[in-house]
Amino acid sequence: SGPILLCAGIAYLLGSIPFGLLLSHIGGAGDIRKIGSGNIGATNVLRTGRKGLAAATLLLDGLKGALAVLIVPLLLEGNVRTGMAVAAVCVVLGHCFPVWLGFRGGKGVATGLGALFALCWPVGIACCLVWLAVAKLSHISSAGALAAFIVAPFLMPPLSEQPVHSPLPVATLLLTLIILLRHTGNIRRLLTGRESRIRIDPPPQD
Ligand code: G3P
Repeated sequence: SGPILLCAGIAYLLGSIPFGLLLSHIGGAGDIRKIGSGNIGATNVLRTGRKGLAAATLLLDGLKGALAVLIVPLLLEGNVRTGMAVAAVCVVLGHCFPVWLGFRGGKGVATGLGALFALCWPVGIACCLVWLAVAKLSHISSAGALAAFIVAPFLMPPLSEQPVHSPLPVATLLLTLIILLRHTGNIRRLLTGRESRIRIDPPPQD
């Protein structure tokens, strides 16, 4: 299990790189934790009005999720699927609970989608489409994210052709649980109609 622990450690460290925080800092958008929802993810970076920074956050957070899983076959000789499953969970844990930020990180959506792509790309594509469709129809990012991760555990067994109790489906279920736990505030706001809507344009001046 030594090599699997190595994969887990690398995945956690990769996940814990807070791209949203770093990019908004470097891009001059200030401390993203003091804006909007206070989250370090792309949705909250978008609330600064900096679309390019938000897109870069989404891309880099997604890529680190995929990379953590894709390097596993280079590090392991056997148990590759188990290692990839462990890495997927650890990269999202790293993003959500980074040691550098006192374990107060993001919500795991972009990183989780990247990991899903690397575990089984058809699931990644399907979940991205669900995310985009629901976010576009509702104008609420968290609604799209929640819908995508609610369908993910149902899609993984058939699309990966793996039994439900095998590593990839179990990891997918864990990702969904982590993401649901990180969205408790969003879920409360969704249920009470107070969740913030995506607004691409700056607010009108009057
Ligand atoms: O990607 C995170 C999203 O689902 C919610 O973000 O900032 O609206 O809480 P936020």
